[in-house]
Amino acid sequence: MTPRLLAAEGLHKAYRLPGGRTLLAVDGVDLHLDRGETLAVVGESGCGKSTLGRLLLRLEQPDAGRMVLDGVDVGGLRGGALQTMRRRVQVVFQDPYASLDPRQRIRAVLTRPMRLHGLCDGAEASRRAAALLERVGLQAAHLDRLPHEFSGGQRQRIAIARALSVGPEVIVCDEPVSALDVSVQAQVINLLQDLQRDTGIALVFISHDLAVVRHLAHRVAVMYAGRVVETAPADRLFGEPSHPYTRALLAAAPRIDMGARLHEAAAGEPPDPSAPPPGCRFAPRCPYVQPACRTGEHPALRSLGEGHATACLFAETLPRMGGQVGPIAVVTETSARIAAYRRARDAAH
Ligand SMILES: Nc1ncnc2c1ncn2[C@@H]1O[C@H](COP(=O)(O)OP(=O)(O)OP(=O)(O)O)[C@@H](O)[C@H]1O
Ligand code: SF4
Ligand SMILES: [Mg+2]
Repeated sequence: MTPRLLAAEGLHKAYRLPGGRTLLAVDGVDLHLDRGETLAVVGESGCGKSTLGRLLLRLEQPDAGRMVLDGVDVGGLRGGALQTMRRRVQVVFQDPYASLDPRQRIRAVLTRPMRLHGLCDGAEASRRAAALLERVGLQAAHLDRLPHEFSGGQRQRIAIARALSVGPEVIVCDEPVSALDVSVQAQVINLLQDLQRDTGIALVFISHDLAVVRHLAHRVAVMYAGRVVETAPADRLFGEPSHPYTRALLAAAPRIDMGARLHEAAAGEPPDPSAPPPGCRFAPRCPYVQPACRTGEHPALRSLGEGHATACLFAETLPRMGGQVGPIAVVTETSARIAAYRRARDAAH
């Protein structure tokens, strides 16, 4: 049997806080990614999405669990084997203003990774860089420009070209469009989708924007307080969400808007990751909570069939339990950062 392209098995990552407390950023995550597919990872700010992304990229080591690329545990890789793994799994970060060195011309941005990975150099690297720029909707003539000469959307295209420059099989995209104007977001999303169709590359797409996820993802993993609480093919997740948290996220989705979102905190907030509640971590906010939910461990993911898994103890009986899941605040630091960025930018014009 061909191994999964990427599999996370029981990943844990804790950070030590001052005062000796421990913050569980990622707390036992199992995930997989197949060739050519887009897996979206969604959830509120602080639920561990970026930490998970860094673990998948091996920018950080897990405290427990492992990350397996094509059947090989990447935790033990060193030297050339680690370099090859890094070539195969690339990243596009959220902030196109921070991710490009302002002093480096685009030619260097794109040819350096090719050289570092021993793929090509000199005129051949420049030729490939020009082709990459054209592939992402820019022009070969842009090779000698500096990052400040480009808009946010163009910079993100350059970041995508840089990721593609070494021929990866996976790109981890951490909120790649959430810092961009809405009008530009769709263009960058369409570019990612075209690239995936043409190259068969697999994407891990980290996002809190469910409309984008619905458009792009084949499968979705919903994270809450460091855990995956539901995973399913995208159609199924949006059509028949099983976990009350997913339902609440979907109920909030039409209202998700950078400014408005911060005011919808009435339904509670995620738990403090350094002191999660016993039992189901969603229990303090869950309208269906039962006494059994508040004891023991957080419920494990269990299969509902057809690639759908849930961590709710009562998923099958929820529709009969009545009650309404209202929208839940999706309070994100990201959204606050972006709102501040937009205010500053608008004030400058
Ligand atoms: N280097 C670090 N040291 C200490 N705590 C950290 C560190 N990185 C992340 N955390 C904490 O781990 C938790 C998960 O953070 P993470 O950045 O993965 O969340 P996220 O889901 O990506 O959030 P956002 O939507 O705001 O980007 C948060 O409580 C965060 O404060
Ligand atoms: S396990 Fe209980 S508290 Fe947790 S989501 Fe399900 S019903 Fe709600
Ligand atoms: Mg993040």
